[in-house]
Amino acid sequence: MSSSILSAVENRSTELSLRNAKKRRDIVIGTAVDMTALRYQSNYRQIVAREFDACVAENAFKQYEVWMGPETYDFTETDRLVEFAQDNNMALRGHTLIWHQGVPQWLLKGRFAPEAVKQVLQQYIHTFVSRYRSQICAWDVVNEAIADDMDPQDTPGLRTDSFWYQTLGPDYIALAFQWAHAADPQAKLYYNDYEAEVIGRKSDLVYALVKRLREQSIPIHGVGLQGHMELGWNRAQAMRPNVRRLVALGLEWQITEADIRIPLQDGEATQEQLERQANEYAELLEVCQGERGCTGFLVWGASDAHSWIPGFRPGWGASLLLDGKLSTKPAYEAVRTVLQQD
Ligand code: XIL
Repeated sequence: MSSSILSAVENRSTELSLRNAKKRRDIVIGTAVDMTALRYQSNYRQIVAREFDACVAENAFKQYEVWMGPETYDFTETDRLVEFAQDNNMALRGHTLIWHQGVPQWLLKGRFAPEAVKQVLQQYIHTFVSRYRSQICAWDVVNEAIADDMDPQDTPGLRTDSFWYQTLGPDYIALAFQWAHAADPQAKLYYNDYEAEVIGRKSDLVYALVKRLREQSIPIHGVGLQGHMELGWNRAQAMRPNVRRLVALGLEWQITEADIRIPLQDGEATQEQLERQANEYAELLEVCQGERGCTGFLVWGASDAHSWIPGFRPGWGASLLLDGKLSTKPAYEAVRTVLQQD
């Protein structure tokens, strides 16, 4: 094939991509990135860069991947993703500075005094956030701090099975936002959580938390609603009052980890399920485009071959926009159609 034909073919596929279809400049369309695939699979790299104008590391920014000892860090993979995002003109989310599941073993097992933990955490946040100053479109400063099923009276509502809560008490959240802000005063700082999309016990606690932070003038700018959903939950419309109350606090918001998992039969989704999934994706994105304050819509994986769902929820899958062979699904077409609207 001559090079002009090749570039014509490339251009045609580029024209049809999600990021090229997108009308709204104020909302990024993104995916979580599997660093192994990014490193070793050129077709994966091409798809991520062609389809999305934002990305987030699925795991590479988590503490256990970066934080090797009290003052020892390994930024090899985070640097790699920052460079990839820059090379391809993509926004990058930083996920996540603090997460109860991200704590490195040396810290969990190290029997450090609380004051020492506080100091090394401050240093970690300072080092990480200032390294990528002005290169991260939003930092998930704290991820999943709210408990799922606990009496909210005492903590209030914070999960107590967290190293951070147990070591530093509830103040760790406000401190983390202050430290991140000091390291990059321009950065958008987010609180991120799951099953807080619609009004209910969990989102009420998230709302109360971020409201308290705002009232205390803690620098928080947005809330990430993860958006891990099951086919049939159909929660999109019920999100509207929830995001409106966040916006009323002066916050922006994003859907940060969308996937809509399908119960598989013999390992496959039916056409009918894929079509319902497409409608549910479209509605979710329509809420983002239709409500004020939404600045991003990110899916938790570029294709069904790169999804955490089959590993974490056996029997479920087919939850993303491309299938396991990287071909487009009805959900992809539906999302692209909505992106083409203003
Ligand atoms: C998940 C990753 O997808 C998995 O690869 C990893 O083993 C565990 O974490 N909420 C989050 C994400 O905030 O960081 C989680 O990612 C999925 C749920």
